[in-house]
Amino acid sequence: MVKNSPVIGPQALPALAEFIRQNAPSRVFVLADTNTARDCYPHLQPHLPAHELLTIEAGEEYKTLATCTQVWEWLTRQQADRHALLVCLGGGVVTDLGGFCAATYKRGLACAVLPTTLLAQVDAGVGGKTGIDFQGFKNHIGVFQEPAGVFIEPAFLATLPPAELRSGYAEIIKHALIADAAAFTQLRSLDVAAVADWTPIIAHSVALKEKIVAQDPHESGPRKLLNFGHTVGHALESYLLTQPGREVRHGEAVAVGLICESWLSVQRGLLSAGELAEVEAVVRAAFEKITFITLETEAIAAYAVQDKKNRGEVINCTLLHGLGHGVFDQPISLAEVAASLQYYHTEL
Ligand code: GLY
Repeated sequence: MVKNSPVIGPQALPALAEFIRQNAPSRVFVLADTNTARDCYPHLQPHLPAHELLTIEAGEEYKTLATCTQVWEWLTRQQADRHALLVCLGGGVVTDLGGFCAATYKRGLACAVLPTTLLAQVDAGVGGKTGIDFQGFKNHIGVFQEPAGVFIEPAFLATLPPAELRSGYAEIIKHALIADAAAFTQLRSLDVAAVADWTPIIAHSVALKEKIVAQDPHESGPRKLLNFGHTVGHALESYLLTQPGREVRHGEAVAVGLICESWLSVQRGLLSAGELAEVEAVVRAAFEKITFITLETEAIAAYAVQDKKNRGEVINCTLLHGLGHGVFDQPISLAEVAASLQYYHTEL
């Protein structure tokens, strides 16, 4: 199937219908979770030809090999061949896991992604990273596999709780910080809860990401910029997943990571204290503080050692060299990760 640029806006679902008509897959399979099957699938269904639907449980805890087995068994039972299309309707769990199942089933069938959360619309659903969590580590097993099509309907965001919307906003801040100073300036006056139409914001953020991914689809160079905020963010998210009742959304952890890694950029002389204050103001306008105690900073930092960006013992981080300009492959120590968390914990 021919890969197209993401279609963003109210034309997304009709565009998917046209995409299916043009590519004529042998069969169409839809993967949803319990939330998107209820809230989004009724809007999608009229745009699809005959198809089968599989609904998986919603939540990061189901982004597992066991759920993949469920999907592979379903496709096998349905006798899906390699010319079938898997439509992934959901947030990052469904798009990452569905993309991984599609990439590996019979060595790969085409996948169309319909991201339904802001996080998936600006990040997870775009750029071809697929995968699942494994032994407590996020996205530990996966492959790069660009979907055949990405269809983004911002109207789906109306079904999201405000905290879920904010979670995606962290990635919008990140894209602006690493690649577009003017876009970051605009975010200074944005009230996430009051945005009436996300379409232009999503379109701009996706364009920033697509430009970076096009230069380096498999993350051997500039794509590492997209990991800004994620060295500390992933470590915090993974640590809190082990603490029952303290789990946080991905974007909430990344928001902390944006501040910690901006602080590290200041320590390296790459960012000014005034610029750090601007990052903090934009993040804090949308996100509440995540609390942990000083004693935990080293345990949280330890998770950064498992980060996929690392090479051997060295933690490779993306930092900022001024607002709107990321720099990748910046080696940092475990002690520096812990110190940045300590800064977040005590200074903010
Ligand atoms: N979420 C970062 C990337 O797609 O590379």
